[in-house]
Amino acid sequence: MTQQKTTTDKSSALGIIELLKADHEKVKALFYEFEETKENGSSKKKEKIVKQICEELTLHALAEESIVYPAAREVINDDDLVDEAEVEHAGAKELISQLQSMNADDSHYDAKVTVLREYIEHHVKEEEKNMFPKLAKSKINGSEMVEEVEHFKENHKGHESKKSSKKNS
Ligand SMILES: [Fe+2]
Ligand SMILES: [Fe+2]
Repeated sequence: MTQQKTTTDKSSALGIIELLKADHEKVKALFYEFEETKENGSSKKKEKIVKQICEELTLHALAEESIVYPAAREVINDDDLVDEAEVEHAGAKELISQLQSMNADDSHYDAKVTVLREYIEHHVKEEEKNMFPKLAKSKINGSEMVEEVEHFKENHKGHESKKSSKKNS
């Protein structure tokens, strides 16, 4: 009977990992779409995809930093791993903020998208190969965390668009 409980705990930890991995896949698909558009798409289309990439990544990173990483710090006992992930987020955010104030025709636009993709590919690999397996083995309450992350994203999405419309007015 106690064995059954352990199985339930484990699968609930997997819930949050699946959610984060689904975000990773979504962004990967957007980067792929950008690559396809880069060749013969319009500047407007490129900007639209990059805007989506930046929004998805910002929300995902903020949710990880506010909810997932603090929990990871407690349960996996590997501060270096979490510190490195936070530094990688900071590097990505710098490029995101540059891209958000650029037009597709600006110099180095495509290069910045490519470097951001490379940063993210590396970072996602670190999370999926090193951090998530450790989280999966831990006793985190994954299903509670799924709800927290979803709420966080919902609240932040509204907040972000309000902020940018304020900035424009
Ligand atoms: Fe992630
Ligand atoms: Fe991350």
